[in-house]
Formats: sequence, C-alpha cells, structure tokens
Amino acid sequence: MPANKTLLILPGDGIGPEVMSEVRRVVDWFDRRQAVSFDIDEDLVGGAAIDAHGTPLTDATMDKAMTVDAVLLGAVGGPKWDELPFDQKPERGLLRLRKEMDLYANLRPAICFDALVEASTLKPEVISGLDILIVRELTGGLYFGTPRGIEELPDGTRRGVNTHVYTSTEIQRVARAAFELARKRSNKLCSAEKANVMESGVLWRQEVTKLHQAEYADVELTHIYADNCAMQLVRDPKQFDVIVTDNMFGDMLSDEAGMLTGSLGMLPSASLGDADETGRRRAMYEPVHGTAPDIAGQGKANPLATLLSFAMMLRYSFDLGQDADLVETAVKNVLDAGKRTADIAAPGSETLSTSAMGDALLAELDKLAA
Ligand code: IPM
Ligand code: MG
Repeated sequence: MPANKTLLILPGDGIGPEVMSEVRRVVDWFDRRQAVSFDIDEDLVGGAAIDAHGTPLTDATMDKAMTVDAVLLGAVGGPKWDELPFDQKPERGLLRLRKEMDLYANLRPAICFDALVEASTLKPEVISGLDILIVRELTGGLYFGTPRGIEELPDGTRRGVNTHVYTSTEIQRVARAAFELARKRSNKLCSAEKANVMESGVLWRQEVTKLHQAEYADVELTHIYADNCAMQLVRDPKQFDVIVTDNMFGDMLSDEAGMLTGSLGMLPSASLGDADETGRRRAMYEPVHGTAPDIAGQGKANPLATLLSFAMMLRYSFDLGQDADLVETAVKNVLDAGKRTADIAAPGSETLSTSAMGDALLAELDKLAA
C-alpha cells in the first residue's frame, strides 16, 4: 500500500468555503474509489483566520503547509477586512504561503471547453479550441520588492513606493520551468516583459535568451512586450502556447486569459517550488478567481476552477495523470450536458447552484468509473 497523501485544505473567505465543500466531496470520492488515499487537515487562512486568530495566517498553519504533500486553497479577502492596515490584510496570508513555500512557478492554464465557446464575450472562432498556459513568476517582482511603503514627505505630501526587482537566478528558474513545460506541449514559448521601459525587463529578456541558447535551443522562443501581449490575447489568443512572465504582468494577463475561457470561474492554477532531496515538491493549488463577495454565501459560485485545481494537484504533485484526466473528463461531460452555474449559463437557461454542480460531478464520476 502506498502511503497516504497529506493534504492541507484552506477554504478561506467569500465563495472559498462553498466551492471547497463541493471539491471536498470529489476529494472524498477519490479517497473511497481510486487507488489514492488522503490524510486531510482543514484550516483557516485570510479573513477567516483574522477573525479567529487576529492574523491572516498563523505560524502553526504555515508550518503545516511546509510539511504536507500539497495545499489546496479557496480564496482570500473581502470588504469586511478592507480597512485593516496593509500588513494585516487577508491577502498577506496567501502571499506568505507563496513566499515561504518558495512557490516561484505559477501555472495558469486557460482552456476553452467546447461547450463554453458561447459563454465568452469573444467571438467563437477566436477562442474555440483554445489551450494556452501562462507561467507566472510568483515570489518576486513588484509583489515582494523592497523598498516598499507609504511615506510622509517633508512638505506634508505622501509617497507610495514599490520596487520591481528580479535577480538573474529568479528569472532563470521560472524560465527553466516554462521551457520544460513548453517541451511537453508545442515546444513554443513566449516571454513577456517591458524591456522597452524597465531595466528589470531588460534583464528578464537577456536571461531568458541566455538560457534558451545554453539549454533550450530546440524550443521556439519569442519575446513580447507585456502590453502587446494583453492586446494579442484578445485579438488572437491561439497564436500562443506557453507564456512566461513576471508576477505583476502574470496577475493581469491571467485574469484576461480567464475571460477567454468564458469565465474566471473556470481557471485553475498550480504553484510549484523546487523538488527537495526526496523528490517532493512543495505545491499549492488554487483557483485564479477571488472571493466574489457579491455572490458569497448564495450558492451561486462555480466550483470548477477549484476542482480543476485539484486535478492539477493529482497531475503535478502525485503523478496521477489518469485520475486528473478523469476529473477533467467529468467536467467536460457535465458542461456538454448543458449543466452550468450562473457565470457560464446561456441567457435564459436553467442554472445550477454550487452544490447541484457538485452533485452533477459526482454522478458523472460514478458513471465514468463504473
Ligand atoms: C491572484 C490574486 C492574488 C494576486 C491576490 C488575491 C493577492 O489576484 O492569485 O491572481 O494578486 O496574486
Ligand atoms: Mg489575480
């Protein structure tokens, strides 16, 4: 018997808990039905942790995250905590997890399911068959650079400062991850930065080019300015396969890519660190969407982004590609059968609640596994 996989589930805030309960049902289904078994610990992060412990992530929860095989996170934040000082906000819990676990490679695949071609605001021919992957650097750049802060100037005015900084090592390691992923797909990588205005962008382009020449000359590499990339993503997204970019540009480009798939409610992500001596890779899986406070608690949220994040966990953390395929096929079949939550429903058609979507998925999994 292989050892059980240890899993830390952090539902977080807003729609996080309600989408996570549906995903939890699928995790339990795998626990019962497939070869894989999970030891699950559930804990608080973000506003929920602030309310219970006065901090968006306790040291105890951080310690657990460092030792489990994988973390599955819902979403953090919400209006209730908007007025808190910056370093106490719910988002700090998420950023601390990313930073301390050193999850520098954030994989955000944007796949347009055939059944959802009509759900996007873009023309069907632009997005049908879309399957691209954004690799976002996740532990550096503007998000973590110093100096940072808000300071009072002698004349009484104020100044807000953030620093966009990357070392060659930080650029190389995420570029390497992207080149490796490109090799497993169409062997095409596009690197996005602002080398026309930022020194960190110039360095980014130089380091990616150097690595390409030294180790990945077989991969077709192109460079693009991030603003042009944003434009090309809506003009002709299928020209891309893998895009590698920094933390801030990746944040924006991946939200944009989300809408190409019909809804941000469909976009999963995997955040990966380096493998340790035993081959174990620290990893966290989370949907790209946020806490959607406007619909939280109403049973309207789409659980598919978090479910597809669980599928990514099966694939990347546990090498269970067939089980990941099973989840993805269940999602595809449920969508093909016209089952939709509100965010992806055709106008006037019946929409499923979050838990009804969970029911549909479990029924489909039962069918597929029969
Ligand atoms: C994301 C989110 C986060 C980010 C927030 C919640 C801190 O927008 O994962 O894309 O900006 O990285
Ligand atoms: Mg974002």
